[in-house]
Amino acid sequence: MSQAVTIDWEDLRGRAIEAMRQAYAPYSRFPVGVAGLVDDGRIVSGCNVENAAYGVALCAECGMVSQLHLTGGGRLVAVSCVNGNGDPLMACGRCRQLLWENGGPGCQIMTSSGVRTMVEVLPDAFGGHDLDAFEATSH
Ligand code: THU
Repeated sequence: MSQAVTIDWEDLRGRAIEAMRQAYAPYSRFPVGVAGLVDDGRIVSGCNVENAAYGVALCAECGMVSQLHLTGGGRLVAVSCVNGNGDPLMACGRCRQLLWENGGPGCQIMTSSGVRTMVEVLPDAFGGHDLDAFEATSH
């Protein structure tokens, strides 16, 4: 069940840095870590995992979203993603879509320009509502 949770951005960043240290990024040498606060108070995290077949690399957010579901689901309330220096890193386009699906428009994201909401960083997003709207009108 959803409840109000307090966002401790420094703690979240610390968890993202811990995750970043586990990154497997021998090809790009660009480790990434991400941590997300869930609406029940738990924290899920992930790191990027690359592959010799470069195109199949997994972004850190993929691992985090997988852990979200594996550990009981829920909605992402706040997300901190960091680069190898521990500085805020903006999620790539594909990962913004992952965050949208699992956090929705109000999910808060730490960026290099401060805290922003998902709807600010992915305006006019494609989502489940588009599928519903089509189903309701298709014949
Ligand atoms: N990367 C992420 O893990 N998340 C993002 O949102 C941006 C990019 C990773 C993918 C790749 O392993 C490395 O950063 C360089 O692109």
